[in-house]
Amino acid sequence: DGGAHVPALVVGTGYGGSVAALRLAQAGVDVHMIEMGMAWDTPGPDGKIFANTTKPDYRSYWLRTRTKAPISNFLGFPLDKDVPRHTGILDAEEMGGIIVYQGRGVGGGSLVNGGMAVTPRRENFAAVLPSVDAEEMYRTYYPRANAGLGVSTVDPAWFETAECYQYARVGRKHAQRSGFPFVFVPDVYDWDYMEQEAAGTVPKSALAGEILYGNNAGKKSLQKTYLAQAAATGRVTVSPLHRVTSVAPAPAGGYTVAMEQLATDGAVTAVKSVTADRVFFAAGSVGTSKLLVRLKATGVLPGLNDEIGKGWGENGNVMCGRANHMWDPTGKLQSSIPCSGIDNWAAGGAFAEIAPLPTGIETYASFYLSITKNPNRAQFSWNAATGRVELNWQTAWKQPSVDMARTIFDKINAKEGTVYRTDLFGTNRVWGDHLTYHPLGGAVLNRATDNYGRLHGHPGLYVIDGALIPGNTSVNPFVTITALAERNIEKIIATDL
Ligand code: FDA
Repeated sequence: DGGAHVPALVVGTGYGGSVAALRLAQAGVDVHMIEMGMAWDTPGPDGKIFANTTKPDYRSYWLRTRTKAPISNFLGFPLDKDVPRHTGILDAEEMGGIIVYQGRGVGGGSLVNGGMAVTPRRENFAAVLPSVDAEEMYRTYYPRANAGLGVSTVDPAWFETAECYQYARVGRKHAQRSGFPFVFVPDVYDWDYMEQEAAGTVPKSALAGEILYGNNAGKKSLQKTYLAQAAATGRVTVSPLHRVTSVAPAPAGGYTVAMEQLATDGAVTAVKSVTADRVFFAAGSVGTSKLLVRLKATGVLPGLNDEIGKGWGENGNVMCGRANHMWDPTGKLQSSIPCSGIDNWAAGGAFAEIAPLPTGIETYASFYLSITKNPNRAQFSWNAATGRVELNWQTAWKQPSVDMARTIFDKINAKEGTVYRTDLFGTNRVWGDHLTYHPLGGAVLNRATDNYGRLHGHPGLYVIDGALIPGNTSVNPFVTITALAERNIEKIIATDL
């Protein structure tokens, strides 16, 4: 506070930020992490830290007065409801043509995500990160990331009989009958714990439908992996409920980092600043891009180049549901943690997760989140009149994603004699094409930064999160974000400190 000085400051506590903090601390550097969300370490009045997906409450949304669930309707009924405005866990950030879902709190996206921990197929990597040595990534950094995150795959024998994965077995049957490769997808959920949930010997989390607003057990979020290891070094401190607003060159060297302390209703209760020798931007693709675009446009960081704000993509996310026949029930008990997918990337540009619809009742529905090779990219820019950073994504830019997802589901529907569900995203809407869970880009590696995340024009400033990745990872992104952060921080520690 006022005059305090830290050697390294990390903005945000998601994947990139957690990797940076741990590795810097292990190298002997004291690190301060600033996180605008809550710590998520204290139970609410119901004795639980996190709210259930089916019963959103004040804990569920970031500063909204009404929920904004990705699936907005069911059987003709709207699902959203009023909630008290609170610094809750899931941000449904409306950016013009797209709603960008993001986790808020210590652990970032790892608090709310499905934990699907997928390494891209090696042959696709050159398109994901063209300037990065693939050999090095697959030999060293992907294995390091997978180990650090605690990634593993469901026991295939248990999968065959588990009631909670009937929906995935139905998904497999339909995929295979149409000739599509079915794949198991690794996850950071503790599979032994899930088996015990099924056996009824431990409190249920995945089998109680917990996911979108946090898991009270079972999931190895960053709080349990990288951040726990970082805390154990004794060199890392974290300030939750602090939002970084500015990073400016300090007169005597280093950077002055300004921040606002937030109350849980979002009110600003204090304004503070610290000086840092090095600042790591890890506020997520949107958070980092918004900060950098504003700081460049307002002349605070004039040395940043014209690539700042460019190359943003939504990882081609598109959702859809299919209505199955009565003889193909998907089960009323569905694990909220997906464990499988349909890989049609090479032929059709789509990789579809077989996702749960954990409603607690039989829905006869199959639900999918597809990641597609959508080529469209958007740009963040500063609007001086409104004092806001805007994103120029257009809803119509999802059409390639829909077309690619159709290469899978039109065929399955034709083969099975089934139709799309039209009740999940409104009335008479098939495609959930209004959102993304996977924002990527805005400060792209080797363009806005050098090939290791060093920002141009301001030595000591780094980007180390999903903003580095140019819009698409061909699979779910956090393993790639983690592996790239491992690669970059190793280089930075070796050469800059
Ligand atoms: P991340 O978003 O994790 O962290 C950024 C942090 O910075 C946040 O905690 C934020 O609050 C904080 N912050 C932002 N601005 C700030 C400021 N100005 N000051 C201080 N703090 C600030 N991926 C995957 O691989 N498998 C999956 O199964 C899923 N599933 C999934 C489901 C849902 C619902 C969502 C929303 C997302 C996923 N994802 C996913 C995506 C994955 O979670 C995402 O790609 C990563 O969390 C991004 O990691 P980053 O390190 O880039 O930022």
